[in-house]
Amino acid sequence: MSTKHKVTLIPGDGIGPEVTQAVVRILEATGVQFEWERYAAGAEAFEIFGEYIPAALYESIERNKVALKGPVTTPIGGGFKSINVTLRKKFDLYANFRPIKNLPGLVTKFPDVDLIIVRENTEGEYVGLEHEVIPGVVESLKVITEKGSTRIARFAFEYAKKHGRKKIHSIHKANIMKLSDGLFLRCARKVAEEYHDIQYGEHIIDNTCMQLVMNPWQYDTLLLENLYGDIVSDLCAAFVGGLGLVPGANIGADCAIFEAVHGSAPDIAGKNLANPTALLQSGVLMLRYLNEEAAADKVQRALEIVYSEKKTLTRDVGGTAGTSEFADAVLAAMEELSTISSFTI
Ligand code: NAI
Repeated sequence: MSTKHKVTLIPGDGIGPEVTQAVVRILEATGVQFEWERYAAGAEAFEIFGEYIPAALYESIERNKVALKGPVTTPIGGGFKSINVTLRKKFDLYANFRPIKNLPGLVTKFPDVDLIIVRENTEGEYVGLEHEVIPGVVESLKVITEKGSTRIARFAFEYAKKHGRKKIHSIHKANIMKLSDGLFLRCARKVAEEYHDIQYGEHIIDNTCMQLVMNPWQYDTLLLENLYGDIVSDLCAAFVGGLGLVPGANIGADCAIFEAVHGSAPDIAGKNLANPTALLQSGVLMLRYLNEEAAADKVQRALEIVYSEKKTLTRDVGGTAGTSEFADAVLAAMEELSTISSFTI
């Protein structure tokens, strides 16, 4: 029997509670023992506690060092600060890791894509330093530091080394932002010198977007500042079937929050239409982080079976199933895998 993992659970809002419920059911069926500490965040938390991020939620993450999080809506052009950005900064989760890989059986315009996005997660335009200088003139600061750039570059190279990735491209706009993006590049180049087996290249962000759509297979691992990484992640999600598929992890020195790339999808919220695959694959990343490799493999294998069979897929990927039916199909595939393995033994 494995140890019980205490995990902070933030269902979020919009489609968050639906996909979270589906994922929790599946993770619990792996046999891994979880103790979930469940907290609201954002507008919902404010209504109940008068705080967008309740103190108890901070304390829970501080204690458990691992969280699974659904999306939380951020008001546009005003209102409270992004809960997502605030949590990443608070726990110094400097590396945003997003693997982009086709699922077997799910046909897209771009087969066999296998990309890793490593996004700096605490700096750049997301530091939230904006002010109105005079009416009609606003300044927004982008902060890039040597420490921040070096540690995210090291994260990318260490990941590549450990997982046999061959190439890293730094993506930048240092032709225009000579100082900030220039510093990001200088730090990446310095780190690259220590890793002789990994090819290092640099592409300008605008060209990269075109290159990605023309030929995503030319890339292996992309190293990006915060804003570029945010945008390029959604672009790359389209290669593998859209935002319903792509997982993510926010990783710091001793703490991690696992969440899908997608947002709260208000257009489909509360209708049992959301695809829980992105959060489920984030859950698989979490299982690996917790050293529950066998359970992670089982969930991933079950997902692949469901996609290969094409019988129970959600609407975003051409099916008709609801969120809960999709989760039922994954659970049935896991059950089948258990039966097969008990016969083999
Ligand atoms: P979004 O990712 O919520 O939705 C974009 C499109 O993708 C929509 O058409 C939506 O229906 C679809 N989609 C997203 N996830 C899906 C899923 N699991 N299954 C099926 N279809 C899915 O992006 P949007 O509309 O720009 O943002 C909505 C809100 O979410 C905003 O308040 C934004 O700030 C927030 N957000 C939160 C994030 C987080 O909590 N980490 C990340 C990104 C956005």
